[in-house]
Amino acid sequence: MQIAIDGPAGAGKSTIAKKIAKTYDMTYLDTGAMYRCIAHCVLDQIGDQFDNEAEIIRIAQETVIQFKGDLVFCNNKDVTKEIRTPLVSLHTSDIAKIKAVRDLMVRQQRDYAKDHAVVMDGRDIGSVVLPEAELKFFLDADILERAKRRKKELDAKGNDKALEEIKKDIENRDMNDRNRTEGPLIQVAEAIVIDTTGKSIDDVYDEIIKHINEALG
Ligand code: DC
Repeated sequence: MQIAIDGPAGAGKSTIAKKIAKTYDMTYLDTGAMYRCIAHCVLDQIGDQFDNEAEIIRIAQETVIQFKGDLVFCNNKDVTKEIRTPLVSLHTSDIAKIKAVRDLMVRQQRDYAKDHAVVMDGRDIGSVVLPEAELKFFLDADILERAKRRKKELDAKGNDKALEEIKKDIENRDMNDRNRTEGPLIQVAEAIVIDTTGKSIDDVYDEIIKHINEALG
């Protein structure tokens, strides 16, 4: 079985996707982490040259991304924490708009889905990566709530950014993700749309589980 979960930043996709994967003994693939790895490697290898497409593509071709439990490895180095910094978040949308980079990531994601029952979350899973997925969900939430969730996460890591600044960052990322030509964030017609505003993780989980169980018959 393949389950696609798309939606904007902070809609609660990854928490829910992990829980669902555990329930049904499926593998969770965090596609955002893959794009984040490339942005991290770019920063590491050529600094903030995010307009140097040729070098970014070379780095994307050479980068080996692996998931081991909750940890993310880039060229055999544990980068789980590094790929979540605001700087990496900011630049990930720069590399995620490059067609050759997306083609490379999409190929790896599809290859992965060939031999695993997967729950994949991202922006283009239902539309591009797994168009044949049995179930597609689109998770969304009010921008202010998404910013508050992100602030809580960042505060736990010693963040000193104001809510308004975090909200602006998310709005900018959403705009980039929705408006790029390649693999933009879109809600496919067959997706089950869930607005997570004001809902707990358990509420959203229960709603999704109901749909999965119906589909399984
Ligand atoms: O889900 P996330 O916040 O970790 O995603 C990080 C960035 O990667 C975000 O700007 C959107 C981009 N992304 C993408 O373009 N396609 C995906 N399938 C997943 C993430």
